[in-house]
Amino acid sequence: MYRLTKSLPRAIGRPITQAPGRRASHSQSSPSNAQTNSRTTHFGFQTVPEESKESLVKNVFNSVASSYDIMNDAMSLGIHRLWKDDYVSQLKPGSKGPMRCIDVAGGTGDIALRILDFSRENYADRETSVDVVDINGEMLREGFKRFKKTMYHNTPQIAFHEGNAQELPETQFSSNTYDLYTIAFGIRNCTSIPDVLKEAYRVLKPGGTFACLEFSKVNNPLLSAVYDQYSFSVIPLLGTILAADRASYQYLVESIRRFPSQPDFAKMIQDAGFVTGGMHEGKGGAWRDLWGGIACIHTGVKV
Ligand SMILES: C[S@@+](CC[C@H](N)C(=O)[O-])C[C@H]1O[C@@H](n2cnc3c(N)ncnc32)[C@H](O)[C@@H]1O
Repeated sequence: MYRLTKSLPRAIGRPITQAPGRRASHSQSSPSNAQTNSRTTHFGFQTVPEESKESLVKNVFNSVASSYDIMNDAMSLGIHRLWKDDYVSQLKPGSKGPMRCIDVAGGTGDIALRILDFSRENYADRETSVDVVDINGEMLREGFKRFKKTMYHNTPQIAFHEGNAQELPETQFSSNTYDLYTIAFGIRNCTSIPDVLKEAYRVLKPGGTFACLEFSKVNNPLLSAVYDQYSFSVIPLLGTILAADRASYQYLVESIRRFPSQPDFAKMIQDAGFVTGGMHEGKGGAWRDLWGGIACIHTGVKV
């Protein structure tokens, strides 16, 4: 069955037949008019009350949803596709038989599609399934439309759910359920990384794998300078030209710089209870850098 569900208890299992209503653009919900609270967090380079971040992030992705896939290609010159292919092939879904996967902050289903294709093409597996979860109905709707054109449409292999990575409802996402938890370019947008990791640990089966693909820290000073120049000048400009939305793309660049370094994030994964490789990059390590750390894959196993 092909489903798009809201992860609110009252809507569990009920397909959403109407598009979620369009929400206000994020310029209407700026940090300056957000309610004040003693606990703050970052939204790009701005400091905002913790309780505002979620709606600000939601508004960014509402705003970029329809142009997200095209912009991803334009901004990364198509390189995000290589990173995503690399990420999924490292995980080898289907190699040990059909897997139950959850792709959180799954957006338009880029990772889910790769997981299903990889397991089918390499292991003739038509039983691996992916639950795509995202806080943003607009992004999911784009994914839903996209999957309609695939062979997975109307099969038990794919389902879309609106939900928050930090608090996946236990009634819908039971503990000890999944073999593989993926989160690609999503965790940096969440208000509390430890809460996301706690939920990942809860929903995975013992022996299940947590795998995160995220932008990270570039250690080479020359590459870092070139990358900074590209990120802060070209990407917001492309946002203006191709999507008429400079602010959202400026946020995306800034949010990358606020994300913890590779070892700091690996430590957070360990603190959530996962077993990781050693505190170093590469073979046997807790993470693997892609393109000098522009992106990075962190993995951990629930014991
Ligand atoms: C940059 S997109 C990545 C989408 C997809 N994983 C990919 O790689 O193309 C980030 C996604 O994270 C989602 N997101 C942000 N905060 C979230 C949260 N707290 N819970 C679930 N999804 C969230 C956004 O709605 C958005 O779809």
